[in-house]
Amino acid sequence: MDGNEFIYKSDNSKILEDGSFTWKAPSNIALVKYWGKRELQEPENPSISFTLSNCFTETTLEFTKNKIPKIFSVPDNNTDFKQSLSQRTFKFDIFLDGVKKPEFSKKISEFVVRIARLVPFITDYNCVIKTHNSFPHSSGIASSASGMAALALCIMSMEKALNPSMSDELFYKKASFLARLGSGSAARSIKGELVVWGEHSEIEDSSDWYGVEFPHKVHDNFKNYQDTILLVDKGEKVVSSTVGHNLMHGHPFAEKRFEQANENLSKLSEILQNGDLKAFVNLVESEALTLHAMMMTSNPYFILMKPNTLEIINKIWEFRTRTNSNVCFTLDAGANVHVLFPEKEKELVNDLIVNELIQFCQKNEYIWDSVGSGAKQM
Ligand code: DP6
Repeated sequence: MDGNEFIYKSDNSKILEDGSFTWKAPSNIALVKYWGKRELQEPENPSISFTLSNCFTETTLEFTKNKIPKIFSVPDNNTDFKQSLSQRTFKFDIFLDGVKKPEFSKKISEFVVRIARLVPFITDYNCVIKTHNSFPHSSGIASSASGMAALALCIMSMEKALNPSMSDELFYKKASFLARLGSGSAARSIKGELVVWGEHSEIEDSSDWYGVEFPHKVHDNFKNYQDTILLVDKGEKVVSSTVGHNLMHGHPFAEKRFEQANENLSKLSEILQNGDLKAFVNLVESEALTLHAMMMTSNPYFILMKPNTLEIINKIWEFRTRTNSNVCFTLDAGANVHVLFPEKEKELVNDLIVNELIQFCQKNEYIWDSVGSGAKQM
């Protein structure tokens, strides 16, 4: 694969004057973490995540063909394109829950600059982006994965309308490719229950450019796996993802960490197939703590857990010793805790969450979630 298949091929017979597309794309939670990236959002190591179900972004992209004829052709490189973009006027307004959000424009404009060579038709339209997150904006849950995935899918629906012969396989691969250019983890928010992003020798067709569905049969123990998100800190992220990933450049443990992530993905692939829940717990918790260890040992250094994050972790460990449950935790680059457990332990772990854990959440708030199957067109 050389990337050429992602270049837009126009079917000149199709005319798209105006219209709208709506996609609902899920959030995801990484089991083996992506932390460290190269130019153009290529990950330093492969990662794998569970797709979520209740945490999603729903985006509608309304578009109207620009009546002013195109003066500029698409240049060969993005730097030239950046300069000409303002003149080519990709005009859009963005609304979150009906409220205009000019502060989101910069991120979207940068995204369009990155993807414009692959979807050049986009600058022929004036667009309105209407978006809604199922989780509260101030929940500490990042909306970039689900948000970028939903927008990428809307743009792909425009491409499909202009080029109906495009296969479904290419549609989803290119959607993941575009989403990745908006936010790395968004590449994993397109399709499938378990998604691998980043090249790995044992995962067929895996790529640094797009996410692929985990290709093996998953053991029943992991069917409809549960994820309850405990909202320990609902504030803005302390460390932006760009700053965070950059911490891995020149990090003293970087190479070892990238190697370990590759090994952990091999091990997790086995575990997901053989259903070994104890091994799953061990690997997933170790990955979460390693992610935070990378932040604590970088320079500048950060502690992103809060005292209540540790209280929750200790309660989970005590509970496991007491009950032999397979409940475990994982963390993002923040203080919130994802409590993961098999569906058959729902009742048991529910008691733990309600009686012992939610006291450590801000305003006792938490979100029930479980594994979902990917984005849906509405
Ligand atoms: C800790 O995908 O938010 O959640 O590519 O800069 O947008 P950008 O970063 P982002 O990083 C997510 C990091 C993580 C781990 C993971 O999801 O794998």
